[in-house]
Amino acid sequence: MQHQKVLVLDFGGQYNQLIARRVRDLGVYCDLKPFEMTAKEIKAYDPIGIIFTGGPNSVYDEASPRIGREILELGIPVLGICYGCQLIAHTLGGRVEHAHMSEYGRREFTLAKESPLFDGLPPVSVCWMSHTDLVKDLPEDFETLAFTQSCPQAVFGNEEKKIYGVQFHPEVAHTVYGNLLLKNFLYRICGARGDWTVKGFVSEEVEKIKQKVGSGKVLCAMSGGVDSAVAATLVYRAVGDRLTCVFVDHGLHRKNEPEEVLSVFRDGLGMNLVKVDAKDLFLNALKGVTDPEQKRKIIGKLFIEVFEKEANRIGAVDFLVQGTIYSDVVESGKGKSAVIKSHHNVGGLPSVVDFKEIVEPLRDLFKDEVRRVGTELGLSDEIVWRQPCPGPALAIRIMGEVTEEKLETIRDADAIFCEEIARAGLNKEIWQYFAVLTDSKTVGVQGDFRTYENVIALRAVTSVDAMTADWARIPFEVLAQVSNRITNEVKHANRVVYDITSKPPATIEWE
Ligand code: XMP
Repeated sequence: MQHQKVLVLDFGGQYNQLIARRVRDLGVYCDLKPFEMTAKEIKAYDPIGIIFTGGPNSVYDEASPRIGREILELGIPVLGICYGCQLIAHTLGGRVEHAHMSEYGRREFTLAKESPLFDGLPPVSVCWMSHTDLVKDLPEDFETLAFTQSCPQAVFGNEEKKIYGVQFHPEVAHTVYGNLLLKNFLYRICGARGDWTVKGFVSEEVEKIKQKVGSGKVLCAMSGGVDSAVAATLVYRAVGDRLTCVFVDHGLHRKNEPEEVLSVFRDGLGMNLVKVDAKDLFLNALKGVTDPEQKRKIIGKLFIEVFEKEANRIGAVDFLVQGTIYSDVVESGKGKSAVIKSHHNVGGLPSVVDFKEIVEPLRDLFKDEVRRVGTELGLSDEIVWRQPCPGPALAIRIMGEVTEEKLETIRDADAIFCEEIARAGLNKEIWQYFAVLTDSKTVGVQGDFRTYENVIALRAVTSVDAMTADWARIPFEVLAQVSNRITNEVKHANRVVYDITSKPPATIEWE
């Protein structure tokens, strides 16, 4: 049976992906789509409910995003959040005004009426506001459902038409009962059954892949990262030995990564996994190269060449598996073009492999869902919670020329950092963390000797989408332990520094 779907129309708000994730976490599948979708397209999509996200615009600006009134006449329940709620009021003949002052932060809101939207909510609770405009007069047949001191229409609605506007942000954690409000909208108002589960996804997807692949042959490039590992495991479950995975060992992986990939997927799961040993090839090509973009180009090009050679040995296949995930393809209301993964080690592959069709089993999933699918498939936390690693891997975490000796130093330092982060229970909280081998040498004293060795920089960031990031506030004791261990256990490192720069102005990686 096809699962139910909710449509989240994106008006450019900063929390748009968060809304979609919350809905999915509540067990209902949803897609984030540009606001330009027409009533006809929406009808064809057949959602059980529609959510309008917030956005930076004012409904009175000529150029601000609009919707056709027909969308509100489809008989499909609608929840408008922030800009989305102002848009409902404006479109249906209400009045939206510029407030004297913007309202940001925590506010108390009081329920004015009973509504299925409020099932289980206390009469007064805390919400998160972030707006300048506000709804002054409601459209005809709408009523006030909740208010705050400065916002008379904090929640309004028409119960019969099942159309609701919420001025605050139920999707952020600061709105204490926000999740319950969203749940009520989905289950009490849209009639959700909660049929979107990871278990259900796995069995549905395995069935789909079986149907699609039939008796065909499938090829997958495994990078060691989470997405390709989960994609390959899912396809393996569907087609078994007809899947061949190729893992290119370019010698730039993190500590024990190649060994782990082989032991988990080939020895453990029994996958048909070919490892190509191309270490010397990559290291020779990188000799004397110090420019980061040059390193990226060399690695990207070589990777494709090596993979092509291997694919030629395997011969023609019917399908190529790619670990593309939802955030790689989601179309946003801000920029309409789809963002395609620029990951070098999958981007160029389709052009060199002789295949008929691409299989992208994770295309609809957010990263946290990919991880849950991995766990459902029986993969360990080490694989599922593995740090994202850039395609060029450690080559861009070693400043300057890449050498065997430097690789060993950075591998050991990075492994210690990762171990201690996990030991402190922070590995599921911090978005990305790794060690960098800087090209600075400093004087130290180790034992009774003067040393002149490398500075290791630790980088750890919190982020939602890697577009912006903040440095993670790791407890000092954890940093102290990491520094202690690195300077004691790692060869050619005598100093450790912690990077406290956000993105922007810095990037997450150092190169
Ligand atoms: P930056 O350094 O641009 O990184 O803030 C943002 C995210 O992208 C990853 N990254 C890369 N991934 N090939 C990749 O596949 C690359 O060349 C590359 N450079 C950066 C980085 O790890 C972070 O998650």
